[in-house]
Amino acid sequence: METLAMQCQSLCIVLLMIAGIIVRRRRQLHVKIMSVAMIWDVILILQIELSRSAILKASKAMTNELMLNIHVSIAVSTVVLYGFMIYTGRRLLSGDQRIRKSHRALGWTTLSMRILTFVTSFWAVVPRE
Ligand code: HEM
Repeated sequence: METLAMQCQSLCIVLLMIAGIIVRRRRQLHVKIMSVAMIWDVILILQIELSRSAILKASKAMTNELMLNIHVSIAVSTVVLYGFMIYTGRRLLSGDQRIRKSHRALGWTTLSMRILTFVTSFWAVVPRE
């Protein structure tokens, strides 16, 4: 149940990020939506870390070690990418147009990694019958 609640939050974050990219030309809205998505994601990671042992013990879920490692690596890389998004985004906001290409490329990479994080979470935690 808790795993499902977290995967629902994970899906909402992905959808929020897609919405943020759709409205990318409306700067203020884009920045607000992306900030909420990134902060929510960090809070989700904290929730998972704080309740991980509890989930594994109490829930009817078991982990696939290899997939869990792959999933965690992708999730950590995504959070590192958030740092680059904030840095390049702030430079864009201050008027540096040379950074736009990097922000765009990193932005699509970040979205792809975030979707991969969501997908691999289903492989990492398998519900036990
Ligand atoms: C995960 C986070 C983010 C993603 C995936 C993302 C993605 C994107 C993408 C794909 C664009 C379009 C670039 C283009 O086609 O030229 C864009 C534009 C932009 N982003 Fe982000 N972004 C993120 C976070 C941020 C943050 C945190 C800021 C500010 C601090 C920011 C500021 C901007 C600005 C100012 C633009 C230009 C909007 C315009 O065309 O006027 N972004 N972003």
